[in-house]
Amino acid sequence: MNVHYKNLQQSLFSSTVMASAKIVNVASVPQRSPFRYPGGKTWLIPEIRAWLRSLPRKPEIFIEPFAGGGIASLTAAFENLADHVFMIEKDDQVAAVWDVILKDADWLADKILSFNLTLENTLQVLSTPPHNLREKAFQVILRNRVQRGGIMAPGASLLKFGENGRGIASRWYPQTLAKRIKAIYEHRNRIMFKEADAFDFIPHFLNNPHAAFFIDPPYTAGGKRAGKRLYLYSEIDHDELFSMMAEAKGNFMMTYDDTEEVKELSFRHGFSIRRVPMKSTHHSKMYELLIGPTSISKQSADLFF
Ligand SMILES: C[S@@+](CC[C@H](N)C(=O)[O-])C[C@H]1O[C@@H](n2cnc3c(N)ncnc32)[C@H](O)[C@@H]1O
Repeated sequence: MNVHYKNLQQSLFSSTVMASAKIVNVASVPQRSPFRYPGGKTWLIPEIRAWLRSLPRKPEIFIEPFAGGGIASLTAAFENLADHVFMIEKDDQVAAVWDVILKDADWLADKILSFNLTLENTLQVLSTPPHNLREKAFQVILRNRVQRGGIMAPGASLLKFGENGRGIASRWYPQTLAKRIKAIYEHRNRIMFKEADAFDFIPHFLNNPHAAFFIDPPYTAGGKRAGKRLYLYSEIDHDELFSMMAEAKGNFMMTYDDTEEVKELSFRHGFSIRRVPMKSTHHSKMYELLIGPTSISKQSADLFF
């Protein structure tokens, strides 16, 4: 990189990278997802709300192409922040849960409520190949609740001690899960889900000026985060994703680890960046980058950048 480019880059970064001071208290955000999702964005919900409300008009469609636990989509749907919500996820395990919740919520809720959570029953469910989508969804929910960190990718182990030594039961709240699943079903008219690759799906919506994309991709660069261990699909082409989003006629918010590589990608595509504080799993203060288009309204700019 030549010196001129580096200086220009640094001065642009210092003008576009701004940090907000406060860490969000996640207890103030309603928990609506049935998942405990690694890399889940509950803490970012106040920012997502503010961004959507700042747009000149309510988005026709809110698109979450790397949905995972889907808290952003659920919030947009429950709080009427967009007319429709479209969630995409490539992992068939995670997809099974969303598919069944949106079509067959009662079955899943009843299955959770009637399951007797013992180590023996759990191991039996987890080691038996499911016969159908319903059983698969239940198996995924159970695995998500009893494995360490909610990690469902191959290689994760069962919770040994859990909270207060309750072991595998420490994250199993059947009533709460059933309630969340039924509440999502109540909003099914506004929520769509598709098991797909984000890269095949995003292009369909790039020309829609009334689309809003929330993009939280897996990120493994720099070895900073163990993204590889967290998800079945963890490698994506970030350059291609940024190039795609540069074509969007609608608005978007991307969220990434705070790394030089990501800042450089944003700079190259002419995007704006803001640093927001978050608490890491070890309770130290860390920063995450929020990335958006530069062509944002003044009102939105004041709020967002
Ligand atoms: C950082 S997580 C998203 C977490 C989510 N924002 C939440 O709050 O729970 C990234 C997700 O992208 C999914 N994923 C990875 N590659 C994908 C692809 N090419 N298309 C769609 N989803 C993908 C992973 O399975 C994972 O669930």
